[in-house]
Amino acid sequence: MRPLDPLSSIKVKLGVVIVAAVGVTLLVNEVGLRMNVKAGFRALVAGALGLAMVQLLARGMTSPLREMSMAATAMARGDYTRRVTASSRDEVGELARAFNAMASQLSEVDRLRRDLVANASHELRTPITALRAGLENVVDGVAPPDPAALRTMLAQVERLGRLVGQLLDLSRLESEAVPLQRRVFDVQPLLEEAASLSRLHTPGVHVDVRVESPSPRIHGDPERVHQVVANLVENAVRYSPPGSTVELRANNTSHNGVTIEVDDEGPGIPAEDSQRVFERFYRADSARSSLDGGSGLGLAIARWIVDLHGGVIRPEQRQPRGCRMVVVLPRGNP
Ligand SMILES: Nc1ncnc2c1ncn2[C@@H]1O[C@H](COP(=O)(O)OP(=O)(O)O)[C@@H](O)[C@H]1O
Ligand SMILES: [Mg+2]
Repeated sequence: MRPLDPLSSIKVKLGVVIVAAVGVTLLVNEVGLRMNVKAGFRALVAGALGLAMVQLLARGMTSPLREMSMAATAMARGDYTRRVTASSRDEVGELARAFNAMASQLSEVDRLRRDLVANASHELRTPITALRAGLENVVDGVAPPDPAALRTMLAQVERLGRLVGQLLDLSRLESEAVPLQRRVFDVQPLLEEAASLSRLHTPGVHVDVRVESPSPRIHGDPERVHQVVANLVENAVRYSPPGSTVELRANNTSHNGVTIEVDDEGPGIPAEDSQRVFERFYRADSARSSLDGGSGLGLAIARWIVDLHGGVIRPEQRQPRGCRMVVVLPRGNP
C-alpha cells in the first residue's frame, strides 16, 4: 500500500509527512501531559510514533528509485525485461515511467540486433554450404573439377562477396561513417546508365526511360542515388514477367522535390508489405527471390540512402497489376 501515491508532487508529499509526524508528536505530548507521564517517556513515545508515521506515509516514495537502480544494473548485464512500479504521480513516478519506456525501447533494439545477427548468419551460411558441398565432391573425386562445377562454385563465392559488401555498406550508412558527397546533378544520364546496365543483364525485359526535358536536377550524392535507382531497377526487372516493360521516369514535382518512379508489370507489393519490404532481409516471397540471388538488403540500403537525403521512398500498387516505386529527392536549384 502506498498512501501518498495520488499526490502529484514530492514537495506536497514531504509536507504531508512532516505535518503528520508533528501532529502525532503533539498529540502524544498532550495526552501524556494529562495522564501525568514523565517528560522523557513522553518524548520517547512521541518520537517512536512519529517515526512509525513517517515510515507508513513515505512508503513508496523512494522504493522506485531503488528499483530503478537495480533494474539499471540488470540492463547493464543485458536483461531488458525488468520494469519498475510507476504508480505514483509525482516526479519519481514520472522518472519511473520514462525509465520503463526506455527499457522497452532498448529491448526492442536488442531484439532487432539479435534478428539481424541470426538473419545475416543464415544468409551467409547458405552459399557457404553449397560451396562446401561442391568442393567436397571435387576433392572426393565424386565430381570432376570441370568448368561447369567451378562456375557454380564461383557463383556462390560471388554471392558471398555481394552479401558481405551489402552488409558493410548498410552498417557504414547506419553509422554515417561515409558522409554524403552532395552536389547538383542531372537525373537523365543516371537513369539511362541504370537502364542500359539492366538491359545488358536481362535482355528479356524492355527497360524504357522517360525524363521530362530539360532534365530535373537533384541535390544529392550521385553515387548513392545511382545505388538507389540500380536497386529499384534490379528488383523491377527481377520480378517482371519475360517480355514485359519496366519504365523509369523522373519529373520535377514541386519547388523542392524531384520524383523518380520505377514501374514494372510483375506481381506488385501488397499494401500490407509496403513497409516491411524495407526491413533488412525481408523478402515477401523468400523461396522465389533467394533462388534469384536476392538477399533482402537492397531496399533496406535504398531507404537508408533516401533517408540520409531527407527524401521519401514508397511502393505503390499499379492497376491492373505491377509495382511502382516512388522516390522523392531534394531538387537542385541551379
Ligand atoms: N518490383 C517489385 N515487385 C514485387 N516485389 C518486390 C519488388 N521490389 C521488391 N519487392 C519485394 O521486396 C522484397 C525486398 O526487396 P529487396 O530488399 O530488394 O530484396 P531482394 O531483391 O534481395 O529480395 C523482395 O524480396 C520482394 O518480395
Ligand atoms: Mg533487391
